[in-house]
Amino acid sequence: PRLKVIAIDGPSASGKGTVAARVANVLNRDYLDSGALYRLTALYARQQHINWQDESGVAVLAKNLPVIFHNECILLDSKDVTAEIRAEDIGMGASAVAALPAVRDALLQRQRNFLTSKGLVADGRDMATVVFPQAELKIFLTASATVRAQRRALQFGIANNGIEYQQILTDIEKRDQTDRTRLVAPLKPACDAKILDTSLLTIEESVEKVLDWYRKI
Ligand code: C5P
Repeated sequence: PRLKVIAIDGPSASGKGTVAARVANVLNRDYLDSGALYRLTALYARQQHINWQDESGVAVLAKNLPVIFHNECILLDSKDVTAEIRAEDIGMGASAVAALPAVRDALLQRQRNFLTSKGLVADGRDMATVVFPQAELKIFLTASATVRAQRRALQFGIANNGIEYQQILTDIEKRDQTDRTRLVAPLKPACDAKILDTSLLTIEESVEKVLDWYRKI
């Protein structure tokens, strides 16, 4: 049986988070930002002085994340970490802990628990391949690395040239490489996923395309 889930996977800074949140809003569904769980795990490990490579140590933390999702805010141990988890080094930490099988395992059920009768739009790297293989609609949302770096730069108010931009581009390519080549749940389109390249699309056009596919199922 198909699940009432729209799974949206793709590389970092592809715009999948924004698109997924808007689609959820239009369809009045819940929204799961699965990357936030990996980011929270990386941040929590740092706070608890657990090394990002310590698989069993980090897995225990992942299992017991004291997190509350409240409207647009994310509270970890009752502290608002909404902005903190978006930092680039936490993104790298998320990518590191996400390569550990025990950590992925620890977060699996928590992710599935986000699905209620309301239905869900979930974004991440393995929503369609591992977490919700029965999703009613699977989308792999991409954009070229340069376009993604430009979007990230815009987000941080950085110009599209110069050393800071170069660093963003390098970081994006490095994180993608880690996510694509890891052994467990690598970033790749599900065989039944629709590919959406947003390099030349606005957010509104991307949202419309997803809704279009949804109306056709
Ligand atoms: O999407 P976001 O950039 O917030 O994700 C941070 C990192 O978490 C990714 O680079 C990836 O390594 C990991 N991740 C994952 N599986 C997911 C979501 C995120 O491995 N479903």
